[in-house]
Amino acid sequence: MKAIVLSGGKGTRLRPLTHTGAKQLVPVANKPILWYGLESLVAAGITDIGIIISPETGDEVKTKTGNGDRFGAQITYILQDRPAGLAHAVKIAQPFLSDAPFVMYLGDNLVEGSLAPLIDQFKRNQLDSLILLCAVPNPTAFGVAEVNSQGRVVRLVEKPQVPPSDLALVGVYLFAPTIHEAIAQIQPSARGELEITDAIQKLIDLEKKVEAFHLKGWWLDTGKKDDLLEANRLILDTQLKAELCGEVDARSQVIGRVKIGTGTKIINSTIRGAVTIGNNCHIENCFIGPYSSIADDVTLIDTDLEHSMILQGAHIVGIHQRIVDSVIGQRAQLRVAPQRPKALRFMIGDDCQIDLV
Ligand code: DAU
Repeated sequence: MKAIVLSGGKGTRLRPLTHTGAKQLVPVANKPILWYGLESLVAAGITDIGIIISPETGDEVKTKTGNGDRFGAQITYILQDRPAGLAHAVKIAQPFLSDAPFVMYLGDNLVEGSLAPLIDQFKRNQLDSLILLCAVPNPTAFGVAEVNSQGRVVRLVEKPQVPPSDLALVGVYLFAPTIHEAIAQIQPSARGELEITDAIQKLIDLEKKVEAFHLKGWWLDTGKKDDLLEANRLILDTQLKAELCGEVDARSQVIGRVKIGTGTKIINSTIRGAVTIGNNCHIENCFIGPYSSIADDVTLIDTDLEHSMILQGAHIVGIHQRIVDSVIGQRAQLRVAPQRPKALRFMIGDDCQIDLV
């Protein structure tokens, strides 16, 4: 079995974070979202993996992710010249996939649990496709499945205004090579994309074997800031292992599950887990509360924060009102003067969001 992981597209919903980079590389608990999917595939025994990349962000994805050695996989990069849809991505990956069955994994999805039971069901029942479903409160934002009383998938619709159920299609799909014939028979949707949802519907219309697997764990489509923070919280809660590599001075307190990277200095601060802090950070006179991820090369001085993500190279000084539910981008600088500030001075990029609450 092979896999393709989709890491192209535009990433407009995570702007401004994705103005300069791929949304699949935004870190959750200090690891790019994309890598969780790669690790999950390898854990299920799939090591021949194609990654779909776009002309805009492909080089960054390639440089960061490499040839697969770090995951124990062999990665082939496949350039999609425009974001023409998920089924279009399968189409251009056909030379790589050849006649192998495969997993398609959306590079911006985080899915809890092992892929092994899905692969078992797919093989055991000799399916043309196995889709993964999860009940959601906002089905209009997803592909949605209608399932009959015997649990059979009868209809799939992409982002319906009137959803036939609350069962969203999760971004992990298993396909036999028959999917290529189905894709050859569909037309672009109203949003101009070749939809994988329509291709699976075509399999159903052709009376091919399509089954659904109901996801029991959590799943996140990391489309927006709050999804990112929730993904960060869940990963820190379930996967973080305590590890202290940096230096913690005698005036500091580290409580609970905390990971501190090499070269990082913690001075006169309290860190209350679950918290992960990367390499070469400087943290002085701070409180870092639960569910925070601090990436490499970050400086935090006289700052309180919790339930937040601070990306690489950010610099925050003198913020004593607690920073909560925040995502601070790479190299961002946030400073408050030691005396009560008389003015606020900003240099804020496009699409930023600042709430002084
Ligand atoms: O997250 C699950 C949802 O993913 C499903 O419920 C929907 O049925 C499915 O269509 C998809 O919807 P999205 O609108 O969320 O897909 P998005 O455009 O965000 O693309 C998903 C991933 O695939 C993302 O990592 C970007 C990548 N992509 C997307 C397109 C359109 C590509 O690599 N190439 C593309 O042409």
